[in-house]
Amino acid sequence: MKGLSLRWIRGVVAGMSAATMAAAVCAYDHAPAPPPPEPYRINIPFFPDGLNIPADNPMTVEGIALGRHLFYDGRLSGRTHPDSLMSCATCHRQEHAFECGFHHPVYKNGRPHGLTGQPAPHAMLPLFNLLWNNEGYMWNGRIHESNQQLGAPQYNVPAEPPYHHRNIESFVWMAIVAPHEMDGRIDRTVCAIRNAGLYQPMFRKAFGSDTVNIDRISKAIAQFVRSLVSFDSKFDRFMAGRATLTASELNGLQLFTTETGDCFHCHGSPAVPLWTTNAFMNNAKDIDFNEAGDRYSVTGNPRDKGAYRVPSLRNIAYTAPYMHDGRFATLKETLQFYNSGLQRSPYVHPLMINMNHGGAHLSNQELADLEAFLLTLSDTTFVTSPSFANPRPDDAFFTR
Ligand code: HEC
Ligand code: HEC
Repeated sequence: MKGLSLRWIRGVVAGMSAATMAAAVCAYDHAPAPPPPEPYRINIPFFPDGLNIPADNPMTVEGIALGRHLFYDGRLSGRTHPDSLMSCATCHRQEHAFECGFHHPVYKNGRPHGLTGQPAPHAMLPLFNLLWNNEGYMWNGRIHESNQQLGAPQYNVPAEPPYHHRNIESFVWMAIVAPHEMDGRIDRTVCAIRNAGLYQPMFRKAFGSDTVNIDRISKAIAQFVRSLVSFDSKFDRFMAGRATLTASELNGLQLFTTETGDCFHCHGSPAVPLWTTNAFMNNAKDIDFNEAGDRYSVTGNPRDKGAYRVPSLRNIAYTAPYMHDGRFATLKETLQFYNSGLQRSPYVHPLMINMNHGGAHLSNQELADLEAFLLTLSDTTFVTSPSFANPRPDDAFFTR
């Protein structure tokens, strides 16, 4: 009798563990299927058409909510130790239009580095209005629909979708494995997010089931990044008849949009309120161009040597230091460069109209006016909007 019951207990235990294992291997869902997510409506009347949204990742209210959490969650690094947390928001900070800022608590002079201390190869780019960029992301535009390059085998990133270099989704796996960012592993990140306990219902609402995988993590974060739209600067309100500009700001606008200052060819105008053309150009900073990450490294066209993407001047007050290598600490220094520091080389873009004179040669008052105008492009609503802020500021995993 004793022997029997022992065997019986063993049998039950064995059965139980088999059942638990089966449950782990073949997860099923008791709850009813969630309703489909609600399509997200972007309504910006005065920007151009041609939104860059991949067909397989439409924006939804629930997808953006999930993406916002993941964007700020330090467990994206695949680690839970307080010193090893890193999220997109560690570098991309809202108060700096999602750049890291000059006085970041860890990164000095606006130059971020990875968890291992390796510096990022370029200065940062802000995150706003990326929906309207169809020319390619990053300073050199490498992340573009046309890029067939897959995976990163040296970091065990498979050469197959979703591990391509094509759109904002790609920044997620790249940030996880890059030695100058999280220096992690995709499987560990997926585990850390799966085990976080908070996400299952959010994945359900956004994607229809609890499944946590890198494809969904990337899609949700990309949806949130696409939702970062800036359209409420003082200048936007001026254009809408809801603000007035000072005489100095108006004179700056005049200089900006005529060949005297010569900025509008590349950086836009009231008719191009993104304040960039998203083109790639060489703006006459140097004589020699041997840097590895320029536009030439993407196209192989020698005319693209020393060319980088024209950054938007919207929110420029928040995004020092300036240029792809962060060589100018202030807007004043940058304007001095355009005023009298242009360097001649065969690669300078022909739209640098003032190249022949080495610069625009504006008076000090005109330079001050130009700067005053540039400061009207600051969108305080954007950098303080609660919709884009850290959703769990009291949670230690949600680092700032
Ligand atoms: C260690 C700091 C760091 C972290 C962490 C980081 N980034 Fe970045 N990010 C950068 C830098 C630096 C650039 C500019 C890179 C370049 O062009 O060479 C950049 C560029 C980008 C761009 C391109 C913007 C444009 O206009 O082309 C996107 C999009 C982006 N990051 C998204 C993300 C997302 C999403 C995450 C989190 C998964 C993330 N980043 C994590 C530093 C960081
Ligand atoms: C021929 C095109 C062209 C013209 C004209 C031009 N720029 Fe630029 N500008 C660029 C490019 C390209 C960059 C980025 C270059 C780099 O990072 O190496 C840039 C960068 C900048 C930056 C730094 C932005 C940042 O986020 O780092 C500022 C500020 C700026 N330009 C202001 C101006 C002003 C003001 C004028 C007129 C006086 C002007 N630009 C004229 C192409 C141009």
